[in-house]
Amino acid sequence: MEKRKQLYEGKAKKVYETDDPSLLIVSYKDDATAFNGLKKGTIVGKGVINNRMSNRLMKMLEGKGIPTHFVEELSERDTVVRRVSIVPLEVIIRNISAGSFSKRYGVEEGIVFKKPTIEFSYKNDELGDPLLNDDHALALGLATEEEIAEIKRLAFAVNDALREFWAGCGVTLVDFKLEFGRLPDGKIILADEISPDTCRLWDSETKEKLDKDRFRRDLGGVEDAYAEIMRRLNEAMK
Ligand code: TMP
Repeated sequence: MEKRKQLYEGKAKKVYETDDPSLLIVSYKDDATAFNGLKKGTIVGKGVINNRMSNRLMKMLEGKGIPTHFVEELSERDTVVRRVSIVPLEVIIRNISAGSFSKRYGVEEGIVFKKPTIEFSYKNDELGDPLLNDDHALALGLATEEEIAEIKRLAFAVNDALREFWAGCGVTLVDFKLEFGRLPDGKIILADEISPDTCRLWDSETKEKLDKDRFRRDLGGVEDAYAEIMRRLNEAMK
């Protein structure tokens, strides 16, 4: 499988067509942004880690009956994925208060919820990815009622699987963002990536942040945190 025309360049990945119209190649970059692109930087080696981690986690999820876009890892940074039309929703699951949840509702970080919460943002950079509810998503025609129900079911199933997996690595899954896509037959599958860019991952004992918040908040030790979380995943999946 070879890269053909570049279709799109995002903040952290490039996407290429291939000789198979149903497959794409994603190529992970070391570029990092935060606050809708306002803060820019590089996390050396991030692309390699996110590619590997996302692929291994999606493979694990496939084993638990969750359909994903993952097809085949081609190289350190490149992966073949199924071509989907992305549902323009950022689907965020939270187990513990942090980030924009804490800011919006004026609560400290680290409150463990009785049950996980879900929220949607409209995936639209010009508007700054505004928060919306199911009815707004329906009104805007972003997804059907059935699709929203399926996305919620899959997102909570992903949370159950990821929480259990990370717990085995001594890591607490605080929250994360997922994106879903539609196959030509209408089936909803998990797309985009699952990585320290898109998850909050805290050491279960020390609560040390092992994710992109180190970059967002200028905490230092960014590369070391990515390397450490990858090391723990590799150890668990040996
Ligand atoms: P938030 O607390 O800033 O809303 O972030 C919730 C989760 O979503 C967190 O794990 C980081 C992830 N996330 C992304 O993957 N992309 C984004 O653009 C944002 C804002 C958050």
